[in-house]
Amino acid sequence: MRTTKEIRELYLDFFKSKGHTVISSASLIPENDSTVLFTTAGMHPLVPFLLGEKHPGGNKLASCQKCIRTGDIDEVGDATHLTFFEMLGNWSLGDYFKREAIEMSLEFLTSPDWLGLDKNLIAVSVFEGDADAPFDSEAFEIWRSVGIPEKRIAKLPKKNNWWGPAGETGPCGPDTEMFYWTGKPEEVPESFHDDNELWVEIWNDVFMQYNKTREGMYEPLVQKNVDTGMGLERTVAVMNACDIYLINTMRPIIEEIEKLSEKKYSEGGKSTRSMRVIADHIRAATFILGDERGVLPSNVGQGYVLRRLIRRAVRHGRLLGIEGKFTKNIAEKVIETLKDTYPELKKNREHTLGEIEREEERFATALDKGMKEFERLSNIDGKIAFDLYQSYGFPIELTEELSKERGFVINKNEFESEFKKHQELSRTASAGAFKGGLADHSDEVVKYHTATHLLHKALREVLGDHIEQKGSNLTAERLRFDFSHPQKVTPEEIKKVEARVNEIIHKDLPVKFEMLTVEEAKKKGAIGLFEEKYKSIGEKVKVYFVGDYSAEICGGPHVEHTGQIGAFTITKEEAVAAGVRRIKAVVS
Ligand code: SER
Repeated sequence: MRTTKEIRELYLDFFKSKGHTVISSASLIPENDSTVLFTTAGMHPLVPFLLGEKHPGGNKLASCQKCIRTGDIDEVGDATHLTFFEMLGNWSLGDYFKREAIEMSLEFLTSPDWLGLDKNLIAVSVFEGDADAPFDSEAFEIWRSVGIPEKRIAKLPKKNNWWGPAGETGPCGPDTEMFYWTGKPEEVPESFHDDNELWVEIWNDVFMQYNKTREGMYEPLVQKNVDTGMGLERTVAVMNACDIYLINTMRPIIEEIEKLSEKKYSEGGKSTRSMRVIADHIRAATFILGDERGVLPSNVGQGYVLRRLIRRAVRHGRLLGIEGKFTKNIAEKVIETLKDTYPELKKNREHTLGEIEREEERFATALDKGMKEFERLSNIDGKIAFDLYQSYGFPIELTEELSKERGFVINKNEFESEFKKHQELSRTASAGAFKGGLADHSDEVVKYHTATHLLHKALREVLGDHIEQKGSNLTAERLRFDFSHPQKVTPEEIKKVEARVNEIIHKDLPVKFEMLTVEEAKKKGAIGLFEEKYKSIGEKVKVYFVGDYSAEICGGPHVEHTGQIGAFTITKEEAVAAGVRRIKAVVS
């Protein structure tokens, strides 16, 4: 069996041999970015660099990034959808473009030194062109020139062959996707049609050559980038000609569920589906809890997604007839399968297991009662859905799923408006929040970004050196900064911090960056998470200096001088977890 470890290593070694710097996976919780809840692709943490910031690792990068996509969470249960997955990717930040990207992709896929897939079983698609941008004849010709027959190159519309901008504006462009024939080799069709499901997409090379403007125009981008993404689990499944739940990182989880439920995965039907839901959801939950910026189950944002994942898994455990608590056993298997690649899982093991079980306990009793209540219903409406949520902790999606199973007619809008009337279920209720997005790089957000550095430094001056950043989230309207501190920040301390930040703003200090080794950065007193984030870059990190006031490891971008920020006001200070405080602030 080909394993994820083997393919991950091969991929990174291949791109290293092609002059790429291998960078570590970033956190699943995006930093500074309020447009998405989770990291959805390897390019996500690289957005500032795709927009022209200099990356300390150079302009050719490769990584294996942990990702969460919750857009099709309700489709989990079939043989291909996963909420959590590992994504392999390589990037050119203004370096190579279409020819090299395509040639390297094909070499990696087909060379016997690398994956050694049969070239005759490969097909590709390219962008066919529309009113915004022309047919990608360049990609088409390159594929032909490397020996892919014309009949195996599909020309498809934007819906299929275009990536980004994930937000309203930003870098985007045509992409070319690679497919592998998973049917019998002797039955491979001469021509490629993407509606034949035996052709499975395994890799996507995006050619970021346009910038979509606010007016909806596609302007050529100054720095042309390549952004590629290959789903690791799916590729390994294709290579082993097996179901995605039977690859090396999934099988031990499935086996544990078989043991607990005394059912066989191979049974098919509803049991198999429930096993997949449990395996996928507990895997995702374990990664969210065990992340270096882990969050806890709650009713908003990432915490709500986490809650939903655990609760849906618990219900499917009931459907399988598992008696008693089980999520912790499964989470232990998840940690075992990937702890060497993601050491944070090992580090946060106890915390993760404790929290997953606590959430299961919170829900289990209510679930049984709520199910009894549900069985009595002959129909459903928004009000009942809300009552089930409030009294028994049924996430709205669970009620939807139960309703569908019983053939009740549901009105999703009515459900949602009933929920919104009562509380903010974050942005999770609307699918839009899951689509993936680029961080907003508007002037306002950039001001808030620099203000966050000043706040961080001022907090250390006023409260002490124990202050460490635990999270940051920026919109065009406010900044939000989480940091370690054992008690409430007093009103006097808040005043002092605010005054200090404003003083630095008034001094109009220049903001500049330097590329330094980790040692040099430390010597210059730079703050930031060195070891965590930059462990595999080795050589240089990017350090932003605000005059001689603050030095912080950061990707950017920032304002040029502090006077651009305007007046700084702290609007809120509160606790978010034990030992973690949160400050919200505005500039005007
Ligand atoms: N961003 C593209 C994707 O997610 C390529 O990595 O498919």
